[in-house]
Amino acid sequence: MRTDIAQTIYRQDYSPYPYRLSQVRLEFDLDAQTTQVQSTLHFEPGPQTPPGTPLVLQGEDIELLSVQIDGQALSATDYYLDEDTLRLTPPASGKPFVVTLVNHCHPARNTTLMGLYVSGDKLFTQCEAQGFRRITWFPDRPDVMARYDVVLRADPAAYPTLLSNGNLIEQSTLPDGRRQTLWRDPHPKPCYLFALVAGDFDCIERTETTRSGRPVLLQVYSDRGCGKQTQWALDCLAHAMHWDERRFGLELDLDRFMIVAARDFNMGAMENKGLNIFNAAYVLADPSTATDGAYRRIEAVIGHEYFHNWTGDRVTCRDWFQISLKEGLTVFREQEFSADMLAEGLPANEAASARAVKRIDDVHVLRMMQFPEDAGPMAHPIRPDSYQEIGNFYTATVYEKGAEVIRMQHTLLGETGFQAGMKEYFRRHDGQAVTCDDFVNAMESVYTQQQPGQDFTVFRRWYSQAGTPRLQFEQRYDADTQTLQLTLRQHCAPAGLEARQPKVAAKPPLHIPVAIGLLDANGQAMPIHWQGGTHDSIVLELREAQQSFTLHDVRRPPVLSLLRGFSAPVIIDTERPGSELALLARCDSDPFARWDATQEFALRHLLAGMRAHRAQAALPDIEPLLALWQAALQDATLSPAYQTRLLALPALRELIDRGTPMDPQTAVHVWTATQAALGARLADQWQALYAALADDGSPYSPDPVASGRRALRNLALEYLLAGKTADATRLARQQYAQASNMTESLGALAALLQHAPQDCADLLRDFHDRWQHDPLVLDNWFGIQASAPTCTVDQVRALMALPDFTLRTPNRARAVIFRFCMDNIANLHTPEGYDFWAEQVLALNALNPEVAARLARAFDNWARYEPTARQGMQAALQRVRFAAGLSRNVHEIVSKALDA
Ligand code: BES
Ligand code: ZN
Repeated sequence: MRTDIAQTIYRQDYSPYPYRLSQVRLEFDLDAQTTQVQSTLHFEPGPQTPPGTPLVLQGEDIELLSVQIDGQALSATDYYLDEDTLRLTPPASGKPFVVTLVNHCHPARNTTLMGLYVSGDKLFTQCEAQGFRRITWFPDRPDVMARYDVVLRADPAAYPTLLSNGNLIEQSTLPDGRRQTLWRDPHPKPCYLFALVAGDFDCIERTETTRSGRPVLLQVYSDRGCGKQTQWALDCLAHAMHWDERRFGLELDLDRFMIVAARDFNMGAMENKGLNIFNAAYVLADPSTATDGAYRRIEAVIGHEYFHNWTGDRVTCRDWFQISLKEGLTVFREQEFSADMLAEGLPANEAASARAVKRIDDVHVLRMMQFPEDAGPMAHPIRPDSYQEIGNFYTATVYEKGAEVIRMQHTLLGETGFQAGMKEYFRRHDGQAVTCDDFVNAMESVYTQQQPGQDFTVFRRWYSQAGTPRLQFEQRYDADTQTLQLTLRQHCAPAGLEARQPKVAAKPPLHIPVAIGLLDANGQAMPIHWQGGTHDSIVLELREAQQSFTLHDVRRPPVLSLLRGFSAPVIIDTERPGSELALLARCDSDPFARWDATQEFALRHLLAGMRAHRAQAALPDIEPLLALWQAALQDATLSPAYQTRLLALPALRELIDRGTPMDPQTAVHVWTATQAALGARLADQWQALYAALADDGSPYSPDPVASGRRALRNLALEYLLAGKTADATRLARQQYAQASNMTESLGALAALLQHAPQDCADLLRDFHDRWQHDPLVLDNWFGIQASAPTCTVDQVRALMALPDFTLRTPNRARAVIFRFCMDNIANLHTPEGYDFWAEQVLALNALNPEVAARLARAFDNWARYEPTARQGMQAALQRVRFAAGLSRNVHEIVSKALDA
């Protein structure tokens, strides 16, 4: 394992690669134990490259057999080779030259799942970010783009299907009986988009016609026997393809597009050109094995990877500091795709609330994952300035906040302007490796056209500042002049690395789009007269630390609905009267803002409960919260999916994160008591709702209405169980017994485990017996147990001792270890819990550093916890920090956490 663990790479140090690589030919003799790779690379010096400039290639965990330049074999003294670099001296002529390398790699021993590896009895690759160097020596950086020919040779008995990027050109049988295939990718690409797959697969396919009338072959490959579970994935792929044509005018640039499901995969999925490789969890679905949530996630992930074909593959990143260029933009595109799919076919008013469900879920993820990151030792701008291990920077900030920064540009430009900006981006940069600045420049060109004299100078700061800005507001209503003066203030404290710089420079203000609406005291929407028009909502552009806006013709004293649709990734700092929040929670016509007000109201109740509990005082009056919940329960105009969001308490993690100090055990206590009270006090209504939403016997469909009904019904069941309602356990057991799909059976079982674990041991056994052959379903079986309040460290260890458990399959490790360490708050925050975390980080570190580093991040915010938790977490971090054999990945995380 590598030990040069603390080297920092800086964005400012970028310099172009001195050689141009035009053509790559890779020949693989595939074998699980030892694969031989022959690589032929056509180089020419860049225009500025002085003769004699060394050619530097990266390699990792591979064995070099031979090197040639222009057909001349080099001896070991002709080149420099160490653990991770191969340095060659190109011909002094300055002419183009060809490097031919032969090397070995060892897929079966590769437990990192980066480079070429074995999963089951198949071979897969994963090259982003820097996995290609584990296959062969190469300029492993995204700005070196080339055309690839790939020859795959293998025993057809073991590997009947051989896939790589692009188009299949030739297939033949060799004299020794092996099969050989040649793939050619017509589009230049960086090596991180290379892929190969070999094995025995089911394949389903369909030909679709692009809007310009070209036929394209769409295929989904999965394990033998799983083909029948891939229909939904293929449908989603076709939807994504047509959506990108409709909404973005972007057409598929290949004749063939393949998705392959892998059982062992570090991440969710990967956008390799024309050959996306997916975690099987985001491909396989049928009603009996997949929940509604899984169906939606599959749609989202397939959309995401497909959309990368333009935003990532056609136009890629110049360097790894620019990941948000492709990820933030592609997350935004996926969010819009998913929202459009939810709203498809609905009338305008219903469409808005259907889309809001997706917005709510995305903002929820942002607040749960990204806000804590921005408040901790790993805080970084969406375009980071430095890293030690790039694998650690595929973060919620780069992805989710990155998508918010794109969304703000969409808000500022409008849909038409944004699409014009996208067009300009592709006009300027198609086929190039570019930077976030290049993207903003294209968008800015449209903005400046729309608003002469204005530009994105201030907006750009979103790319260089870390931390979540805080927004304060002040309203002054003058009844005589019927004017409302709204003053907005912004502030963003130094975060993460910024805070550790010796001289903290003041952070200049950001350009923040603030969407607002006005309600009167009865909750009626009031029209806003603004820039010559009358509107329900307007967007104020805040560019200064403090700025005032005056609205005229405001007839009655208004209640402000602020940050509609979550128009910017900020925290509103101004506490407003509970009565205002309650009014917004009942009446705001913006469905996002209405949900947000409900959540804020509930959070304030919970936080007050935590303060009371610590002071050993009585918990605050629950009546106001009950009244809100009652109103949401009775509002028949709401879609079930939206109602489910409205009636869910804020996540426990959000509650913990909002506490000062963070106090997990108190939060668990108060959250649980509040849920129980809402369950018990509204029992009749939950019961009625539960009955009304019973399955009507129609065939399963994952559509938003049917899945919304199931989600709301499961929520009602959970409240009934939490409230210890007399009949609840019987209802849950009955739901499990009669379930006709996984959403119902898993919903019942998970709720029982949370609230009545003594009543479900037999069901757990039954579930295991039924599903032991299906690894994805078994992951859920593990996951609901590992996160149950009765699951102590001893119990999670017992789960890990079962024959079904393995640390080598990331999905299984996540189902047990991550679910325990992330979701089982009460048992994690114990001395044994802290030991368990350290032990598992180290165990994973030895096998799979990428996955280990993700688990390591669970203790990022240790310093903000109450003393007992803080000391326990700090000791566990130190134990990891000083362990032998630490990977660079884990080292970066724990050392940054401890140095904070
Ligand atoms: N390019 C990434 C996959 C990736 C990330 C590979 C990090 C290597 C390192 C892919 O497009 C991606 O973003 N996948 C996400 C899922 C997506 C729906 C947000 C993932 O794998 O989590
Ligand atoms: Zn992505």
